[in-house]
Amino acid sequence: MGQRVYIFDTTLRDGEQSPGVSLNIGEKIQIARQLARLGVDIIEAGFPISSPGDFEAVRAVAREVKGVTVAGLARADFQDIDRAWEAVRHAEQARIHTFIATSDIHMQHKLRMSREQVLEAAVAAVKRAKGFTGDVEFSAEDASRTEPAFLFQVIAAAIEAGATVINIPDTVGYAVPGEWGSFIETICREVPGIDRVTVSVHCHNDLGLAVANSLAAVLNGARQVEGAINGIGERAGNAALEEVVMALYTRKDRYNNLYTGVHTEEIYRTSRLVSTLTGMKVQSNKAIVGNNAFAHESGIHQAGVLKERTTYEIMNPALVGVSKSNLVMGKHSGRHAFRQRLEDMGFALSEEELNKSFERFKKLADKKSDITDDDIEAIVEEEMKLA
Ligand code: KIV
Ligand code: ZN
Repeated sequence: MGQRVYIFDTTLRDGEQSPGVSLNIGEKIQIARQLARLGVDIIEAGFPISSPGDFEAVRAVAREVKGVTVAGLARADFQDIDRAWEAVRHAEQARIHTFIATSDIHMQHKLRMSREQVLEAAVAAVKRAKGFTGDVEFSAEDASRTEPAFLFQVIAAAIEAGATVINIPDTVGYAVPGEWGSFIETICREVPGIDRVTVSVHCHNDLGLAVANSLAAVLNGARQVEGAINGIGERAGNAALEEVVMALYTRKDRYNNLYTGVHTEEIYRTSRLVSTLTGMKVQSNKAIVGNNAFAHESGIHQAGVLKERTTYEIMNPALVGVSKSNLVMGKHSGRHAFRQRLEDMGFALSEEELNKSFERFKKLADKKSDITDDDIEAIVEEEMKLA
C-alpha cells in the first residue's frame, strides 16, 4: 500500500471566484455536503473577510457539514485571520489557511512590501492562526515565479512559526510538469523542517497543465493536492480534482500506489451538482465527467466495446458514477451497435428487417447528426409497415 494523498477541495472558494459565479448559503451547504459524501479531506468553504455573505456561508458549512476539515482563507493579516477563525471555529476540524505573495512581481506591484516585510508578515500570520487552531496552512502565493532562495526562507520560517501544511501555489499556471516536479522535489529535500509538515500544491490551468503539474508534484513528494470539481476557478480554473483522483487511481502503477480517500462513484453526481448550482457548463469532451467521456460513436469502437468494454475504455464508467457506456447513434455507427440499441429498446427484428432498418438508419444519419431513440423507433415502425 502506498501513501495517502489528501484532497483539498476549493470549489467553494477559488471555484466560486470563477467569473459570473456566486453561490448563496444554501447552495454552498448543498455542495459541501456532497463534497463530504465524495470523501474529500478538506473543504475550503470561502474567504470569510471578503463579504458578510461569505462569512455566514463558511460558518454554516463549518457548523453543519460533518466528517471533513473545513478551512477558511485569510490574507496574512490579523483581521482576516480572526474573521476566518470566527467562521470556522465550530467545525469538527477547523483549519485556517493564510497566504501572502512571495514573488518579486507581486511584492513590488501588488503588496508594495519588501522581502523582509513579507517574511515578517508570514511569520506573524502563522503565529496568530496557531493561537486559534493546531491546523494551520500557509501558502506562498505565486510561488512558481518566486526566487527559490527567498521562497525556501519564507517556507522554513512559516514551519518554524507553526504551520502544519505548506502550500506551493502555481498561482498563474506558469509552471510546466518536469520543472514543477523537480521544484517540489527540491523543496521537499532542502527546506529545513519540511519533513514535519504536509507539502501541498495548488495549480492553476492557464496553460492547461494544472492536472499534469499536480501529478508531477505528487510524484515528487507533495501529499496534498488542491483543486476544484470540474476544474472551475479563477481564469482558466484550478486542477480538476476528479481528473487528479482518477489518474492516481487508474495509473497507480505509475504513482507508487498513492491513494486518496475519495469515493469515486460519487464523482459524477458531484460534478452535476456543481455545474447546476454554479451555472458553469461542463464541456462535452471533458475528461471523466463530460457527456462524451464514455460515449462511443464510430462503428469500430462500438463493436469493440460491445465485445469487450476495455478495448476502448480505461475506466469502468460505474467507477465514477456513470451508469454505463453510451453508444451514440450517428453516421459512424455500425450494425453491431444498431442491433444492440434495437434490443435495448425491446425490438426483436429478423435479419432481413434489421438490414433494411440499418440502411434507412444510415441514410438518416447522413442528414442528421444525433439520431435519437424516437428516430430509431420511427425507422423500425416504417419498416414493419412495409414488410
Ligand atoms: O492561486 C493561489 O495562489 C491561491 C492562493 C490563495 C492559495 O488561490
Ligand atoms: Zn488559486
